Amino acid sequence: IAAPDWISSLPKAELHIHLDGSLEAGRMLQLAQKNGVELPYKSVEEVAQAYNFTDLQSFLDLYYMGASVLCDEEDFYHLMMDYLLQCKANNIVHTEIMIEPQTYLPRGIGFEVFMSGFRRAMRDAADQWGQSVLLILSLLKHTSEEECIQVLEMADAWRDDFVALGMASTELGNPPEKFARLFELGKQRGYELTTHAGEEGPPAFIWGSLQVMNVTRIDHGVRCLEDPTLVDYLREHQIALTVCPLSNIRLRVFNAMADHNIVELMQQGLKVTINSDDPAYFGGYLNDNFCAVAEQFNLSQADVLTLIKNGFEASYLRNERKAYFL
Ligand code: HPA
Ligand code: ZN
Repeated sequence: IAAPDWISSLPKAELHIHLDGSLEAGRMLQLAQKNGVELPYKSVEEVAQAYNFTDLQSFLDLYYMGASVLCDEEDFYHLMMDYLLQCKANNIVHTEIMIEPQTYLPRGIGFEVFMSGFRRAMRDAADQWGQSVLLILSLLKHTSEEECIQVLEMADAWRDDFVALGMASTELGNPPEKFARLFELGKQRGYELTTHAGEEGPPAFIWGSLQVMNVTRIDHGVRCLEDPTLVDYLREHQIALTVCPLSNIRLRVFNAMADHNIVELMQQGLKVTINSDDPAYFGGYLNDNFCAVAEQFNLSQADVLTLIKNGFEASYLRNERKAYFL
């Protein structure tokens, strides 16, 4: 999908992107070869054929397998730089990227390895074209709270590199209450708090994220419309939803873009933002997501500008920086 020029050329913020989800097939195959990692694909075409998901878990299985090719500092540099070049191409002037240490730590890859690569790419992109980046420490819901707390403690040595604490991975079977203590500890450490909720899970999981985890932003959250009281709460507190349209279609949260509820979310007065989630897996970066929604629902220029403005307003930038972008 080629995003219309006027949308593509506008400066945007992205608030919901898993760095491992930006690992393109070509890079994945190259690193697999370099590092001697076995994958069930031999070509970019075979990878594309395999990316036929039925739900969140069927995606996550391939997503963690893909990330298993990442081994040394240079691999992590390329992973970050490939995405930051996409930011430049998509006019994403500010991005907030989820980093998931639990995907690397079990293979003996420590914070110093991946953080060195990430930092070097972030520094190069800032020097070369002024790219603005904040990192989110994203922990995995399918793991125990105990393990998450250990990673949070490990991250204390890297506290200044992360603006926020978030959570992703398997939502069903892992309610917010499971992570009450983790988020209390995150709050004590001064992290901004966000989490995935209401993607496959019920509105009760969004309530729990707000009331038990104390988050101020919700990743996805599209199932909120099933609970009018929750919609009122989200509107009153202007809790931002980081919606990922192409992801929602590919993971069958909605059957087709025509069935997506993003227009109703906006009509309900909610603070909706558009994001790419895992662009290498879902077939589109940020401009493709904006374009798909704008085309499907014939969005007005004012609607598109509101979505873009929401992205900056809901960001974790300091107020002075936020004002600069707005
Ligand atoms: N949901 C949950 N976990 C994830 C996702 C998602 O959309 N993408 C990457 N990890
Ligand atoms: Zn996500």
